Amino acid sequence: SSFPMRLKNNLSKLGILTPILDLVFKTFEDYEKFSQIPEAKGEIAAIRSEAFFLPLYELYITYGGIFRLKFGPKAFLIVSDPSIVKHILKDNSKAYSKGILAEILDFVMGKGLIPADGEIWRVRRRAMVPSLHQKFVTAMINLFSQATDRLCKKLDTAASTGEAVEMESLFSRLTLDVIGKAVFNYDFNSLTNDTGIVEAVYVVLREAENRSTAPIPVWEIPIWKDVSPRLKKVNAALKLINSTLDDLIAICKRLVDEEELQFHEEYMNEQDPSILHFLLASGDDVSSKQLRDDLMTLLIAGHETSAAVLTWTFYLLSQDPGVMSKLQNEVDTVLGDRFPSIEDLKNLKYTSRVISESLRLYPQPPVLIRRSMKEDMLGPYPIRKDEDIFISVWNLHRSPSLWEDADKFNPERWPLDGPAPNETNQNFRYLPFGGGPRKCIGDMFASYENIVALAMLVRRFDFELAPDAPPVKMTTGATIHTTNGLVMRVRQRTRYPATPTIPVVETASPASITEAAI
Ligand code: HEM
Repeated sequence: SSFPMRLKNNLSKLGILTPILDLVFKTFEDYEKFSQIPEAKGEIAAIRSEAFFLPLYELYITYGGIFRLKFGPKAFLIVSDPSIVKHILKDNSKAYSKGILAEILDFVMGKGLIPADGEIWRVRRRAMVPSLHQKFVTAMINLFSQATDRLCKKLDTAASTGEAVEMESLFSRLTLDVIGKAVFNYDFNSLTNDTGIVEAVYVVLREAENRSTAPIPVWEIPIWKDVSPRLKKVNAALKLINSTLDDLIAICKRLVDEEELQFHEEYMNEQDPSILHFLLASGDDVSSKQLRDDLMTLLIAGHETSAAVLTWTFYLLSQDPGVMSKLQNEVDTVLGDRFPSIEDLKNLKYTSRVISESLRLYPQPPVLIRRSMKEDMLGPYPIRKDEDIFISVWNLHRSPSLWEDADKFNPERWPLDGPAPNETNQNFRYLPFGGGPRKCIGDMFASYENIVALAMLVRRFDFELAPDAPPVKMTTGATIHTTNGLVMRVRQRTRYPATPTIPVVETASPASITEAAI
């Protein structure tokens, strides 16, 4: 037996009461049991000063697929091993909650689907997943095309004057316009004008990101809450968003009441195909606070992620003219001068691989957060209840032991005649949309949105980094941002036929969509 155990036996022979010994030695034993995991020490400043997943990568190379990182009294488990990740996300997912994430996001998402746990999560997931059915996602393709077309018009001007454009903020506006319309039938029109509500959304988003990287939760200090100008601004923004959402919910309720409603699995109102309309029509029995939380969650989840994917895809393409011309070739051949149809999306295979590869190199978000709700075994190591866990998707996706030329942008690694990569066929070394029961519910929506936007943009323009663009570096938010924007020069392509036409909308049968290898 171990040294502490022998010591305990000897002390008990000396007549010390067993309950006291048990208490003292339990601490020892626990310490021994739980401290088998390799331990790294960190500086709290590192988390704030740069993209914090970069130092975590260095530690991963040193300590391996699971280690405990200590900052003074705080400790995190950093997990970058596919089989342990699969255990946490899928096989034993019931033993894990969203932990810190739920605490950070509470002010904006409340009990929305991303932070929610337990019974609330189960009920809300069951209510919301059906709203993203095939017919809905197919109908959204036109919305994606129209929004991208507005962005193209904006870029026409820049192309003719030769001025540089900051693409990251344009992508953010593109995806905000799309998600507003898709989730609650609201036109943010952020590509064309700046209204108070658009600014309010950005104030709230920045605050969420600020909180996720703040070492001290100042927003919990009672007096600070009332005097800090930043928090006052955040509260005003939240108030505006909430009252806008309440109005939209009320409008939608009236529409549903007036409708001759026949609700069925692929129900969709043609005038208002939004997710909100589906939820209300389904008779979803939910408090208005919960509904607001859910809508807000979808708004944020569907907006920043897609914007980040497009930003980094265009950055990668600017570094690799070979991939860009192959991509443009496919788009010219498959799409011609049309707005994309669902058939086209199925055939834009290289375009889809470019996005898969971009998501490998720049996963959004780069880190998933969990907390253990009971003791568990991670690989060979026992862990405690209430341990905060960071699953580094960044490390998984860039691991030199899991990938050949891990840092190389190489869409060819995903053969066109093979399946599109996902967490299942890649055995959890590739997690663009998470995995297990909490996998993203917008994966199909987002994939279509990104393919449409990418295809339509590269069909019309050539993109390169502007000659005087600031270097493109990463910084951490909820997703990976650039530090100083993605400043590009756009040029009209000469091969591109001038006016796109809108295709006859074909409502494809669900079967044909399932076959799509996107
Ligand atoms: C969850 C990625 C777009 C709604 C997730 C997760 C990831 C992810 C990695 C898992 C988080 C975790 O396990 O902690 C992405 C990426 C997107 C995208 C990369 C774009 C390219 C969307 C869109 C929507 C959406 C468009 C909504 C229409 C959600 C929701 C969850 C989620 C509601 C939480 C699901 C749950 O916990 O049950 N997403 N997402 N996402 N995503 Fe997405």
